[in-house]
Amino acid sequence: MSDAKVALVTGASRGIGAAIARRLSEDHFVVGTATTADGAAVIDAALSGSGRGLVMRVDDDQSVDEALGALGADEQLPAILVNNAGVTADNLLMRMKSEEWNSVIETNLGGLFRVVKPCLRSMMRARWGRIVNISSVVARMGNPGQGNYVTSKAGIEGFTRSLALEVASRGITVNAVAPGFIATDMTSELTEGQVAQMLERVPVGTMGAPEDVAEAVAFLVSDGAGYITGETLSVNGGLHMH
Ligand SMILES: NC(=O)c1ccc[n+]([C@@H]2O[C@H](COP(=O)([O-])OP(=O)(O)OC[C@H]3O[C@@H](n4cnc5c(N)ncnc54)[C@H](OP(=O)(O)O)[C@@H]3O)[C@@H](O)[C@H]2O)c1
Repeated sequence: MSDAKVALVTGASRGIGAAIARRLSEDHFVVGTATTADGAAVIDAALSGSGRGLVMRVDDDQSVDEALGALGADEQLPAILVNNAGVTADNLLMRMKSEEWNSVIETNLGGLFRVVKPCLRSMMRARWGRIVNISSVVARMGNPGQGNYVTSKAGIEGFTRSLALEVASRGITVNAVAPGFIATDMTSELTEGQVAQMLERVPVGTMGAPEDVAEAVAFLVSDGAGYITGETLSVNGGLHMH
């Protein structure tokens, strides 16, 4: 832990974010966020001495201001930021309601803007930073019924490249990780038939585990990955190659 830094992981109460928080807490002090106080308490317990839970809704300006204000006051502004919080609200575009469109765009894409911006100043000052944004394989493949979600994830990958160019000279890397079909709450509503159908398209033949994504994130935030920036790393069992 000699080079331990503060790592902020959004949406760390369950699924992929929880696995990322656990993995990064092996080397760093991790602040994991949830949308509720109960969720933050779960993160506190899971990370025990190597991190803390915090309430933050990434779709809400005031909530982000309060959470980052608290971290600033505790001198815990992150050197490592993992933007993982994400939601779906699936519907065919013909049927999609404005609320379904807006909630997904505001959380997945707007959340990035809200959280990244106030974290950049301290990274710039330190001339070191790591930002990893969690995209999805569907950003490149498209997916019927997920126009809002796919738009948000494709936006995340474009954002990643643009920001990477803006901050590269300051020792800050910005990358994305694009998971494929990972076993979490987000995919738990699929029927057995849907899972079997999906797995037919995955060359390695299984769903991924949250830990598979966490390993990729741990690599990208390491010192050894300092020459990788603006990249999207796929963790999808071969479902899509580019
Ligand atoms: N699972 C997959 O197959 C898959 C594939 C590709 C990409 N991804 C991406 O990976 C990321 C994590 O997915 P997951 O499957 O682990 O999801 P999940 O199990 O549904 O967990 C979502 C996390 O996001 C948090 N969250 C939801 N709305 C939020 C908001 N408005 N503000 C802040 N946090 C919020 C949740 O907090 P609460 O617990 O407080 O609700 C929770 O911690 C997402 O960006 C997702 O798009 C997942």
